[in-house]
This record gives sequence, C-alpha cells and structure tokens, in this order.
Amino acid sequence: MKIEKRLLWAIIVSVMGSLIFGINMAAISGAVTFVKDHFLLSEFQIGLVVSAIVIGCMIGAFSAGSISEKIGRKNVLIGTAVLFSISAVWSALASSMGGLVAARIIGGVGVGAVSVMVPTYISEIAPARVRGTLGTFNQLGIVIGILLAYVFDYSMLDVEHGWRWMLASPLFIAVPFLIAMQVKFPESPRWLVLKGFKDEALHVLTRVAGPQNARKEYDSIVKGIEEDRKKSDKDVKFSHLFKGKVGKVVFLGIMLAAFQQITGINAIIAYAPTIFNETGVGGDMALLQSVMVGIVNFLFTLVAVWLIDKLGRKKLLLIGTAGMTVSLGYLVFAFLTGRADSLGVLISILGYIAFFAASLAPVMWVVTSEIYPNKIRGVAMSVSTAVSWVCTFIVVQFFPWMLNSLGGAVAFGFFLFFTVWAFFYILAKIPETKGKSLEEIEEELGLRGDLEEELNIKTINS
Ligand code: GLC
Repeated sequence: MKIEKRLLWAIIVSVMGSLIFGINMAAISGAVTFVKDHFLLSEFQIGLVVSAIVIGCMIGAFSAGSISEKIGRKNVLIGTAVLFSISAVWSALASSMGGLVAARIIGGVGVGAVSVMVPTYISEIAPARVRGTLGTFNQLGIVIGILLAYVFDYSMLDVEHGWRWMLASPLFIAVPFLIAMQVKFPESPRWLVLKGFKDEALHVLTRVAGPQNARKEYDSIVKGIEEDRKKSDKDVKFSHLFKGKVGKVVFLGIMLAAFQQITGINAIIAYAPTIFNETGVGGDMALLQSVMVGIVNFLFTLVAVWLIDKLGRKKLLLIGTAGMTVSLGYLVFAFLTGRADSLGVLISILGYIAFFAASLAPVMWVVTSEIYPNKIRGVAMSVSTAVSWVCTFIVVQFFPWMLNSLGGAVAFGFFLFFTVWAFFYILAKIPETKGKSLEEIEEELGLRGDLEEELNIKTINS
C-alpha cells in the first residue's frame, strides 16, 4: 500500500482527534472512585458526572456537520482541540461537582464533533483504493486512546492528586493536536471544490495524491459537484435529508450507526469490571481482565485495518455480527442456566470484543462517511452520528439497571436481539463500497445528479 507522505501526515494529525476521543471516554474510569469520595457524591451524581460527556457528544455530533459546511472541516477540528484543552484543564481543577459536569459536557462537544469530522475528513481526502484502510485509522486512534487512558490511570493510582492528572490527560494530546494542525495540515479537497476554492483543491490533491493522480481525482470531484450544481445551487436544508432516495441512504446510515451502539459495546467498555464481578471475580483481577478487553480491542482493530479494502465492508460486517451473535448467545445461555462461570464469561466477552473491533466498530465509521453524496455528507454524518450517541446514552445509562434488576440473560439478550437484526439488515441493505470513488458510490446509489429532485428543490437552471 503506497501512501504519499503528505497524505499520511494529514491522516495522522486528524486521527489525533480520535485518540483524544478515546482518552476522554476512558480516562474517567480510573478517576471515578476518587471523584466520588472527594466531592461526596451519591450513585446518581457520579452517574451524572460520567454520562455528562455523552450529553456533550450529542450536541457536538449534531452541530459539527452544518458548521463544517460553512467554515470547513479543518476549522472545526481546530475548534475541537480548543474545547478539549479547556475541558481538560477545567475538569482537573474543578472545585465542585457542577464545574466538573460542565467541563465534561464541553469535552463531550469536542468528542461528538471529532466523531463526525474525522471520518468525514479522511473519506474526503483519501484516494478510493486505500480509503477503507485509512478510514479504520479513526477507530485505531479511538482504541489506542482507550488503552492509553487505562494505562495512564493505572500509573496515577498512587500519585497524590493522581485523579486530577487523569482528568487532565486529554490535554497532553490536545496541545500537540492544535500545534500540528498549524503545520501543513490541508483542508478537505472536496469541501474546497464545494466552496469554489478550486485552485486550492488542486494544490491539496497534488500534494496528497501525487501530480499524476491529482488531475484525475480533481476532475472527478469537480464533475460530480458541478452536475449537482447544474440542477440546483441551493443549500440542502435539514428536512431534505429525509426525502426520496437520499432519505433512504440517510436512513441506512442511521441504522448502521444505531446498530453499532445498541448491540452493547459501551456496556462492556464502561462496565467490564462490574460484569466480571458478577461472575465472582474480585477487584484487581476484574481490572486486569478489563485491560485484556482493551488489548483485544486494539489487536482486532488491526485485523480490520488489514482486511477492509481486501475483503470489503459488507463481508467484514457479516462475519463480525455473526461472531458477536455467537458470543452473546453463549452469555445469554450461561446466565439463563446459572452457568455463568468466570472463564466462560471472560472468553465470550473477549470474543464479542474481537468480532466487534474487526467489523462494526471501524466499518460503521467508514461506510457512513462513504455513502452520503458530497453535497450533504457533513450534515448527514452529523445526523447518523448523533443517533449513535443517543444509543450510547441509552446503553450506558440503563445497562447497570438491566444487569442488576433483570439479570444477565435479559441484559445480554437485549443486545443479542439487535445483533441478529443487524446481521440480516446488513445482508439485505448495505451496499459494498470497497474500491469505488465517492462519486461512483453516489452514482450507484442512484443519487448522482438528481439529488435536488429527490430533495424536491426547485430546479433553477433547466
Ligand atoms: C467504536 C464505538 C465507540 C466504542 C469504541 C470501542 O468506536 O463507536 O463507541 O467506545 O468503538 O472500541
């Protein structure tokens, strides 16, 4: 796989945003007990502190797309680095629970925004033949961030005020992220063409795709965007996203984004030690097993990086959801029959994580960033990603209650139901996008050129 150095630099810098996403999500896990003791919080209050970030994520994801249509992908990413920095410093110095919640909401806005912007940016700057692989770097950033946070938290356990350092940890990447974006970090060429900065777009493409490929890619982007323009140069309104063929594609993206969350991943990421405790495993060992979850998550993301442009998105998704079904099926069976022994549960949870990490995790981010037409990509990504954050909230908020009040069989049965549904939905509906340019995908989905008809926008040039 040959990648131009400039392109690699652009991807690495943008993926620093994903790294901070992961750190922000996981760093709190080690700080929870200290925060609870320091501020004398009830169960409900500590729940609020933890989930505050997801509230911010919904806001950030929802607004990032339309803001980026106006000010560009790069400026939104710069904005997130500022939000991450403010949030980290404020969280670490917080003198009240209210301050901590507010600081975490601000950090969440940053996480929500990068969760939309990084996949969008990568899909818009990467050439078709390696777009999937580069797209999985987003997920790789997230899982490395999660792992780094676990390890950092662990190293801070015996340090005085260590929990404040844990909360400050996103800052260590946010500052380099902010600086790196000032050094030859290109704007998305597709966004530049959309906004009429054609010379700049060609310049970026020459640098990231090499002089020979640049012209071809540039022509294909310009042609695609001008065809849309010929029919209508009005901006797409939010309500238009849900009509006609475009509506169907947006719905597809929403379903995939929802499936990625409602099948339970963040119940495991956030409550792994609690689940292991259920099987009689004690404190230290439960934490060690959680680190194993983090490592397997990381290793199997590499499998996706390797396979996504070879095997294709759809096959990976089908193999992944099938494997998750088997793992969850075992968990339901074990809890139902009272045979939930520690080894069986550990193996099936690691199996679930492995199949998720190699499939739904990265592929959702990649496919949603590919299937929307150029003209609506930012906004549509916002919508499906915001839905995914709503599902994250439901899972994180209700899983402890389901596990305690309804039992493991019901809790995992809930995830199993959606995983089986996801398998059949993917089989029937998800198109294969491997190796095609974004404009070809648009064409195949029947969206090329007649976007405005689908959106019922009055044609102005015909
Ligand atoms: C995916 C999910 C995210 C989850 C992570 C776990 O990126 O979108 O919610 O925490 O995988 O690795």
